[in-house]
Amino acid sequence: MIPVAKPLIGEEEIAELEKVLKSGFIAQGPKVAEFEEAFANYVGVEHAVATSSGTTALHTALLALGVGKGDEVITTPFSFAATGNCALYVGARPVFVDIDPQTFNIDPEGIEDAITEKTKAILPVHLYGQPAQMDRIMEISQEHDIPVVEDAAQAHGAKFQDQMVGSIGDMACFSFYPTKNMTTSEGGIITTNNSELAEKARIIRAHGEEERYQHSVLGYNFRMTDIAAAIGLAQLKKLDEFNRKRIENAEYITEHLKGISSIEPPYVSPNVKHVFHQYTVRVRDGKRNDLMNFLNQEGIGTGIHYPIPIYKQELYQNLGYTDHCSETEKAAAEVLSLPVHPSLTVEDLGKIVITLEQASDKLF
Ligand SMILES: Cc1ncc(COP(=O)(O)O)c(C=O)c1O
Repeated sequence: MIPVAKPLIGEEEIAELEKVLKSGFIAQGPKVAEFEEAFANYVGVEHAVATSSGTTALHTALLALGVGKGDEVITTPFSFAATGNCALYVGARPVFVDIDPQTFNIDPEGIEDAITEKTKAILPVHLYGQPAQMDRIMEISQEHDIPVVEDAAQAHGAKFQDQMVGSIGDMACFSFYPTKNMTTSEGGIITTNNSELAEKARIIRAHGEEERYQHSVLGYNFRMTDIAAAIGLAQLKKLDEFNRKRIENAEYITEHLKGISSIEPPYVSPNVKHVFHQYTVRVRDGKRNDLMNFLNQEGIGTGIHYPIPIYKQELYQNLGYTDHCSETEKAAAEVLSLPVHPSLTVEDLGKIVITLEQASDKLF
């Protein structure tokens, strides 16, 4: 089976891990600080605050911005549930805006319509590794004086008009879950140029402690370990090469999809660097599940990102959500992610495109 995602761990990660394990520091310590500095430099921001996951990064970012009970956070329903849930954690209400059908990212024009007096943050997601339309989103943010938190969980190294994601909004959150473009096992990080927000995030991440055993605010244990940071340091050095390979793999598959009209390759906006966390096609004619089954039977792993809009999850239905975002619903029924990860071999890629051609003859 060619898996749809696969972390690439090499001797460098093992060597870094060995050093940490022998150092005596295995909780948050000097490696986390080193990783934060290296990641901030990579993204081109002043501060990075490492956390235990992408989800806790989002939770911490909203708390640092002071988002709380009764507030609203504008976001996309076409994402992993954590994107909406982080608003719920702080007592706020996620307000969902439909996507642009070409990029699958939040439609900026819908954001403006959704702004109310209660809106305290805008949370765009750079879905599949393609940056959201950040120029328009930042314009809206500035016009209405509402901060932007980028959910960059899937977009390490992606760029919007030559600007690194993670350096555009007021804050940004990355995930280092093993399927992501780089991993620390579990882990996350917040990036920002705002010293005050960074300091607040550091305090919230560690029990609200400004000094040892002095708790000024309600915080959490959302710390990253030095073990995770050691893996991250080795992975960060490889990130550009991983992304180069992902882009090359994506271009190869797209080239071979040219003759297959029912399987639409991903659209890449002209002004972005898309880093292909996922290579997600649209399958027309109600044939998505048939294609998925065919590929799986032939030994090609696939994923559906995401089959259910966040507002349609049982959790949200029980909270009274009755939204209907037509482009999101259409996408949820039509998308299929194919393997694009950097460990694919030439043979794997050949097998993927041949099997897609066979599927096209058989199914469409
Ligand atoms: C868009 C998005 N946001 C948030 C998260 C949460 O990250 P984590 O799994 O590290 O908590 C993920 C990852 O799964 C994600 O894909």
